[in-house]
Amino acid sequence: MDLFEYQARDLFAKHGVPVLAGEVIDTPEAAREATEKLGGKSVVKAQVKVGGRGKAGGVKLAATPDEAVARATDILGMDIKGHTVHKVMIAETAPEILEEYYVSYLLDRTNRTFLAMASVQGGMDIEEVAEKTPEALAKVPVNANEGVTIEKAREIVALAKFPAEVAEKVAEVLVTLWATFIAEDALLVEVNPLAKVANGDIIALDGKVSLDENAEFRQPGHEEFVDHAAANPLEAAAKAKNLNYVKLDGEVGIIGNGAGLVMSTLDVVAYAGEAYRSVNGGGVKPANFLDIGGGASAAVMANGLEIILGDPDVKSVFVNVFGGITACDEVANGIVQALQLLEDKGEAVTKPLVVRLDGNNAELGRKILSDANHPLVQRVDTMDGAADKAAELAAAK
Ligand SMILES: Nc1ncnc2c1ncn2[C@@H]1O[C@H](COP(=O)(O)OP(=O)(O)OP(=O)(O)O)[C@@H](O)[C@H]1O
Ligand SMILES: [Mg+2]
Repeated sequence: MDLFEYQARDLFAKHGVPVLAGEVIDTPEAAREATEKLGGKSVVKAQVKVGGRGKAGGVKLAATPDEAVARATDILGMDIKGHTVHKVMIAETAPEILEEYYVSYLLDRTNRTFLAMASVQGGMDIEEVAEKTPEALAKVPVNANEGVTIEKAREIVALAKFPAEVAEKVAEVLVTLWATFIAEDALLVEVNPLAKVANGDIIALDGKVSLDENAEFRQPGHEEFVDHAAANPLEAAAKAKNLNYVKLDGEVGIIGNGAGLVMSTLDVVAYAGEAYRSVNGGGVKPANFLDIGGGASAAVMANGLEIILGDPDVKSVFVNVFGGITACDEVANGIVQALQLLEDKGEAVTKPLVVRLDGNNAELGRKILSDANHPLVQRVDTMDGAADKAAELAAAK
């Protein structure tokens, strides 16, 4: 889960990384009071989860409270790379910036370690530094058990060739930044720029933090960072039911068991759908990814169907199951019971379902569906045939 800059700033402050004061607001007028509190001037910073805010005009200095209101008016509602700005941070203005550095920690999956990165050429274009002058970006593996002690931090600082007069201060910041990384179960903490300002202080002026969602169970405090407004309501509902669901923009609802099978189902439906015309013009496409996993019980199937049938974009549903450890007869019973469960809840199924069962006990499963004889359920025994049928049923008349 990626955080907004102001949230990263709060976590940095909690663990002793030096930051400036700041307040997040969502109306231009609120910029006045926030700027007055900071002594009459501020930096107005767009809060979007995408890089390059400064270059896009989303970071502006304001010399007076009136100017802050004007800049907040400009920036709120601005589109930065497809992200609308709903909030700005009114930040304390740093003393004159003399130098801008870059520091980060991340999980290096390829090398199965943590990685520290540091450069004295920080600022807005670290990607360019990494590409054009890779030698200017020190990359230092960090052993998970040893972490970043002050000695390790000094080693990173030396390899990145920080000037002697800031070396110790930067090393101290690196230790606090590591504390943030570990204590918050982050996958990434990045400071760009880490600024050296006129009075010699070292300050984190911008922060990027990505938290590990697998650690949610031991990070109850992170619940507050979930961006409910940005979450798709169907995805949020699916998450609450522990389903592996991703909303897509087509018309055929997809349910399958196993991520690989669902991925290929998406391809097959998109391909079959090219022969039809959707309500949006163009071909018929999958409306979602939903993997109900190996042991597809009736309850899980009902949960999945409920989410998919609740999607107004869905015109037909393709249930694609390959029986393995959970045999097809159990899955078929699951489907029949799921439809009954939904009906009992008053959520009668009104969209056609195409079911393809194959693999372990396929014959028995197919028989169960035939015997149940649900008016909206059709059986098609090949994946391509079923995809074609589902696309046909979803097509605009
Ligand atoms: N509080 C501040 N006081 C003075 N100058 C600032 C302050 N915050 C940022 N700046 C200046 O603005 C520049 C851009 O700010 P920042 O790094 O936050 O945005 P960005 O790098 O464009 O955004 P992103 O990191 O999302 O790409 C900084 O490099 C710094 O020079
Ligand atoms: Mg930045």
